[in-house]
Amino acid sequence: MKNPEGSLTRRRFLGKAALGCAVGAGALAAAAALRSVFPSLTRTKKVFTVGYLTDFPINTFTLLPEHKVFILRDHEGVRAVSAVCTHLGCVLKRVEDEFRCPCHGSRFDDSGLVLSGPAPSALPWFRMDLAPDGQLRVHTNQRTHPTDTFKIF
Ligand code: FES
Repeated sequence: MKNPEGSLTRRRFLGKAALGCAVGAGALAAAAALRSVFPSLTRTKKVFTVGYLTDFPINTFTLLPEHKVFILRDHEGVRAVSAVCTHLGCVLKRVEDEFRCPCHGSRFDDSGLVLSGPAPSALPWFRMDLAPDGQLRVHTNQRTHPTDTFKIF
């Protein structure tokens, strides 16, 4: 024997469950889309330490994947450039004296300027200083010019 009220309640429950699943899936899709368009939204820390000067070889761009930045140390000092492709936010690799995006092939020169697209803009450079404990510190919330070296010698 069927209970019409029980059937209605079950139908309502299933309808609400389906609606909840659809809303949750939509929210996840929207968050993923925002992250791909605005990769900086996914950075949790705007200011972070990256280690000591001696951790970085001279005349080398060192990728720090956990922070998505390259640290360049040369004879003048250190600089930090974003490792996030300005197209859709993939993490760049250093290949043959340039930055290359493994996702869609954008290329950037040593200054972060676009050599070939689809990346729409240059890579941002970030201010660096020393933390109280002597580690190098990057401020991704403060942009600098590619030639602005943090001199610590
Ligand atoms: S994400 Fe780098 S070229 Fe598309």
